[in-house]
Order: sequence, then structure tokens, then C-alpha cells
Amino acid sequence: MKYYLLTIALIIFYSCKKPSQRGLVAKKAMVVSARAEASNIGKQILEQGGNAFDAMVATQLALAVSYPYAGNIGGGGFMIYRLENGSIGSLDFREKAPALATKDMYLDSIGNVIPDLSTRGAMAVGIPGTIAGIFEVHEKFGSLSMETIVKPVIDLAYKGVVVTKKQEIRIAEKHEDFALANKDTILFAKAWKENDTIKYNHLAETLTRIMKNGKDEFYKGETAVRLANFIQDNGGILSVEDLANYEAKWRTPISFQYDDLRIISMAPPSSGGIAMAQILKSVESYNLETLGHNSLKTIQVLAEAERRAYADRSHYLGDPDFVNVPQDKLTSDSYLKDRMSNFSFEKATPSSEISHGKVDIVESDETTHFSIVDQFGNAIAVTTTLNSGFGSKLFCEDLGFFLNNEMDDFSSKPGVPNVYGLIGAEANAILPEKRMLSSMTPTIVEKDGKLLMSVGTPGGSTIITSVLQTILNVHEFEMTMQEAVNAPRFHHQWLPDEIRMEPNRFSKDIIRQLEQKGYQINEERSPVIGIVDGILVLSDGTLEGGADNRGDDAASGF
Ligand code: DON
Repeated sequence: MKYYLLTIALIIFYSCKKPSQRGLVAKKAMVVSARAEASNIGKQILEQGGNAFDAMVATQLALAVSYPYAGNIGGGGFMIYRLENGSIGSLDFREKAPALATKDMYLDSIGNVIPDLSTRGAMAVGIPGTIAGIFEVHEKFGSLSMETIVKPVIDLAYKGVVVTKKQEIRIAEKHEDFALANKDTILFAKAWKENDTIKYNHLAETLTRIMKNGKDEFYKGETAVRLANFIQDNGGILSVEDLANYEAKWRTPISFQYDDLRIISMAPPSSGGIAMAQILKSVESYNLETLGHNSLKTIQVLAEAERRAYADRSHYLGDPDFVNVPQDKLTSDSYLKDRMSNFSFEKATPSSEISHGKVDIVESDETTHFSIVDQFGNAIAVTTTLNSGFGSKLFCEDLGFFLNNEMDDFSSKPGVPNVYGLIGAEANAILPEKRMLSSMTPTIVEKDGKLLMSVGTPGGSTIITSVLQTILNVHEFEMTMQEAVNAPRFHHQWLPDEIRMEPNRFSKDIIRQLEQKGYQINEERSPVIGIVDGILVLSDGTLEGGADNRGDDAASGF
């Protein structure tokens, strides 16, 4: 009788459990990005025998055409890679401040931040790094010719890209900003509607010159001169010398252990790797699997670890070529244990009581993500950005692309929040040729020494917490890649002192209980938190894509 009841109970349990929802599964190789057109071009390059790095170049450029909201050649980004043989590395093609930039360039005569100067128009533009980035990737790891890789992108630009509903809305939302940022009427001034096709002829011409003449076309050639003149005509300070001096940099990634996972992510000038290491190591001993996905206690412990990590971010992190970032200390077990020592499940720790931790510095020293796994076993994670949607909104009609407003990622003035509400200090102050601090967190995860996942997202300050929730969803809560990407997300960043939640995706009961413990909940600030794309290696070696339906994202594979 006992066994009979147990069997019935098990049958009921398993029949009530929601069937798992898988994303696209492919046998050999996959690309997941913000647009089907870009994922398909990346896949096509892989099918032609190219590797993940060839596909990186193709996908990055195809996003510049098909996803001008964040895909770019006028911005920058980061790439994490893991080769088939297990070696890892990262490329920093983040923008830099122009040589004429100064610490107080966004302040008026009495020291107040001038509204919009660091976010809209020519003064907001950092030296773009994308073209240097793709050529660096191609030179080190590429296997196909640049012509083979870039040709389908140029064809797409001439053929044009169909406007989606989401894109129609985004273009309409920025209508006024486009008019304010540009002297002339730009391609995007038109009220484009869903199913219209936008042709990018000028961008196709620029890409053709770059394909023929290489990186120097963008940094030293005709395109460089036209670009610098355009920015200066619009009141900016970026010069031909700034472009000529720009270089992408290979950097050692941050890598750390969480349970039986090895997480490999971006080092400064991104804050992503360090902050994610701090948060995950701070919560590791709490057994999240037992506490439950998005349960009261899981939200509490994650929010408290996030609060402390973002307080450190704001004080200590900046461009490592300019400031000494105490990376080892900030991610050490003893430091993090001490940081969490005043955490209690009883009540929230107010952010006013949390400052950055005490670390002795020893003196001597709107974005998009795509993931690719190739048929050879190489994996990459790339997050790339213009910063805000359509960057500075300044569109170089003649060259066919938007320019970033990445300068806003610096701290214009200590204590004054940027567009993401992030506060910075001296470590992220503006200096000529310095890189602005980023939250972009392209990440690769290994399990038992093998590739498990490539993941990343846009979302400004919420990038770090979105990536880590996605990893936890797979690892602790046994979700598929697609479920992990779909799951509701929340975010705490020290200041403002609130937990941001995706609206109507958390129960009223959880929200009430959190409020009773002293947490402020904000469901209004972010309609969506992150647009995560990822690839998971399944136990049989096939690949599952997670393409976030918060955007028009799509997986493509074979
Ligand atoms: O580098 C950063 O952290 C930001 N510029 C990223 C911007 C972003 O994710 C915009 N997306 N919502």
C-alpha cells in the first residue's frame, strides 16, 4: 500500500511539473544574437568552414547593419574567448576618451553637470574601438579572408533590413533626440514602420572601403578624416590623431571558481568580472538551490551581495591602464566574508550603512551581446555597445553609422549618477585616452574542465546581475538555456537603495515580504532587465541556444 501511494504521488508530481522549454538545439555550431539576420550571417560563415572568430567579425558587422540600436562600428565592446584546447583570453575594444578630454568637461562654471552634454551629440563621443577589435580578432585567430567574411554583410546593407515592431517603437521614441543631435535630416528621421525595409547604402560603402583597405581605413584613411571632420563640425573634440592612436588590447580575463563551475569573464575596464566574482562568492555558502529560485531568501542574499559589490565598484574600479584596481583583494574569500558579516535575513542593510570596503591599495603599482560556439569547439562571448540606444543619436549620414555616447560611462562628477544611476569616484574620472568603466560582462562558463556556456546581455548597470542570474538559473535551479534566459530578473546596485524588478513578474506576496524587511521595490524603472543571449552545451554535446524574447533575438545553428 505504501509503495502504491508513493508511485501515485510520483506520477502526480511529474505530471504537474512544467515540461521544460528548450531553445533551438544544434549539433555542431551556433550563433545567438539580437537579430536573425546577424545570427544567420554568422552561421553562414561557420558553415563555410570559418571558425568562431571569423563568425565574430561577421556577426559584429551584421549587427551594425541590422541592429543600429546597439550593433555598431561607431562604438566598442569586449570579447571573451575559450579555445577548443581550453586556453582563454579576452579582447578590450572599449572606446577611449579623446586627447582633448578633461576631468571637468561636462561641468559648467559653477561645477554643475551640464544636462545632456555627456549623453547626446558630438561631445559625448568616445574614440570608437570596434573596427580595431574585429581586425585584432581576425589577425590573431581568423581563418577566412576578410572579403569572404565582410561580403555578405555588405550585401545585407545594400539589400536592406526589415523593420520589426520593436524597432519601429524604438526609432519613434528617439525621434526628438535625433532632431536635437543632428544638424541635417538623418536616415532615421523618417517614421519607419514595421515591415518597411531600410537600406544602408552609405554604410555599405564604408564597409567596402574597410574591407579593401583594412583597419587603417577607419583609423588613418579617408574614413578617419571624414569622421573626425564630421564630429568636429558638430562641436566635438575627437581628432584624426585620436583615431590614429587607438588600439584594442588583449587582456587577462577574470576567472574564478563557483561550486564546480569555472567562470571566465571580463576584467577592468569592465566591472563585470570582478563584481560577478564578488557577488557569486558572497552567496556561495547559502545553498541557493535549497532556498529556491526567486524565493524571498534568494532575493535577499543576492540583493545584499549586489549592494556591497556595487559600492566597491563605484569606488575602486576604473581603467587599469590608469588606476590601480585591487582586484585580488576585492575578490578574496576573507574580504568577501567580512563584507557579508553584517548581513541578516531579518532585515535589509540600508545602503547608507554600506560604503566601499576597506582595501589598502599597494602603490607600485543600450548594448548588445552575442554568443558563438563553432564546430571545432571554440567559444566566444561578445558584448558590444554604443552605450544608450542609438548612442549619442549623432548619425554620420555620409558614412552611414551612429556614434557612441560612451563618455557618459565616466564619472562626470563624484557622487552624480550617470544614465544608469551609477555613481563613480576618482578611479573612473575622465582623463585623456582613458577608457570609461563598463558593466559589460561577456562570460564563458566551464564545468569539469569542459565548455558549459557562453552568455551575456545588454542592460547598463543591470548587465552583471542579469548574467549571474542566468548562470544560477542553469546551475542551481536546473533550467534549460531558454528557461534561464526567460526567467524574471531583479537587480540591486547599492544606490539608489532599491531592488529593481521586472514589472508583474514577481508575486505580490514576495514583494510585500521584502518590503516588510525594509527593502524598497521598484517595478517601474526597468520594463525589462537585460536581453540575455546564451549557448549551453548539453550533456550529449549538442548546443542549446537561449535567445531572449524581450528583444528580437534569434539563434541560428547547424
Ligand atoms: O559599458 C557599459 O556598461 C554601458 N555602456 C552599457 C550600455 C548598455 O548596456 C545599454 N543597454 N541597455
